[in-house]
Amino acid sequence: MQEGTKRQQTRTEGERPEEQLALRESALAVTAEGVTISDPSQPDNPIIYANAGFERLTGYSIDDVVGRNCRFLQGPDTDTATVQRIRDAIKNEEERTVQLLNYRKNGTPFWNRLSITPLRNAAGEVTHFVGVQSDITDQKRAEEALRQVNKQLESANERMARDLEAAAEIQRSLLPSSAPDIPGVTFSWAFRPCDELAGDILNVGPLDSGHIALYVIDVSGHGVASALFAVTLCRLLSVIPGESSLFAPDEEEPSGHRIVKPARVAEKLNRQFPFDPRTRQYFTMLYGVLDLETHQFHYVSAGQAGPVFVPQQGQPVDLTSSGFPIGLLSSAEYEERVVALAPGDRLYLVTDGITEAENEQGQEFGMAHFLGAIDRMRNLPLDEANHELIREVESWCGNVGMRDDASILACQISSEKA
Ligand SMILES: Cc1cc2nc3c(=O)[nH]c(=O)nc-3n(C[C@H](O)[C@H](O)[C@H](O)COP(=O)(O)O)c2cc1C
Repeated sequence: MQEGTKRQQTRTEGERPEEQLALRESALAVTAEGVTISDPSQPDNPIIYANAGFERLTGYSIDDVVGRNCRFLQGPDTDTATVQRIRDAIKNEEERTVQLLNYRKNGTPFWNRLSITPLRNAAGEVTHFVGVQSDITDQKRAEEALRQVNKQLESANERMARDLEAAAEIQRSLLPSSAPDIPGVTFSWAFRPCDELAGDILNVGPLDSGHIALYVIDVSGHGVASALFAVTLCRLLSVIPGESSLFAPDEEEPSGHRIVKPARVAEKLNRQFPFDPRTRQYFTMLYGVLDLETHQFHYVSAGQAGPVFVPQQGQPVDLTSSGFPIGLLSSAEYEERVVALAPGDRLYLVTDGITEAENEQGQEFGMAHFLGAIDRMRNLPLDEANHELIREVESWCGNVGMRDDASILACQISSEKA
């Protein structure tokens, strides 16, 4: 910067020196900030000037202050490390801004944003320090309130995460704990929730010594509401007679109950869960019963793709099936279908989280792709094939990740009959 410009900055045009001084004095008097000047050439670097703003801020009069070191504003809760930073700055003749707790003359504390700047003479020696004090108590209070709110939010968040984890654990415990041990038939499943809590459920279990129930269910949405609904359904579709919709009382049977046909199960559930506009929840279901004698699979689809049939010799086929999702249409009717499995055949039940999984370009994984993947994995053991399938869908989704729960339930008839 040129000398001329510098001079203009420190002079007020057209005013006489004494008028300029008075102008600066009144400017300093009206500023809200405290302005102080100390003289380091005197013992203990005392204040030699304080403006009216300083008096207003601290309650000390100019007479109280002049001749004293400004540390008298400090008190029991003033942070000693911050005072040390001021001390270092003065010693090193550096500019510094700190925030520290100070006390007014009447003893009330206030937060002071203090900046200290050394003033140098033409030879570059420090002759004075200028201190500017601002009351930032309100800002500090707001910051503290924000910190408290954040802390509360954090602990509420932690509590919710713990609750979700506990709920997810309960939900995992509803998955079949082990595959039914049936000679000649292998069962396997893979379950991949997209959130902590899933809206998908699946199960495989014996209805009696000759029949195995298999289902995959996809409750609309995912998260807490869907998971709660899924847990309710899990109870209603229990393979233990009692309140299960899979059985009906029958006095003619020695057990006192009979197995309900899949299409009737869908109809019963559809009556039990009419569409509720408050929750807007419904679910899709693929439910079937495998007859262990004939290896026929009787199934019903309610709003889901049919099972995928993988004959030992031949291409996988999507046994397309139709039927309204449960809870959407009170008059919906459900049709039972059957597929006969031969030794070496596989059958897959999947939710749409697999076929409708989208990649970064918004393209769906699709049924054709799924059939191709199943075909490629047909020589892998069922368990391995299932996990590979999920892995393949995950890598299809890439960075966008899976946005829906995905469930696969599969069974295979052994090549050699037991
Ligand atoms: C111009 C000037 C203004 C100051 N204003 C304050 C102040 O408002 N509040 C405060 O706590 N300390 C203030 N100080 C700092 C103290 O005067 C002192 O330098 C600090 O406590 C560290 O030194 P000590 O260890 O000798 O106390 C100021 C210092 C100077 C030079």
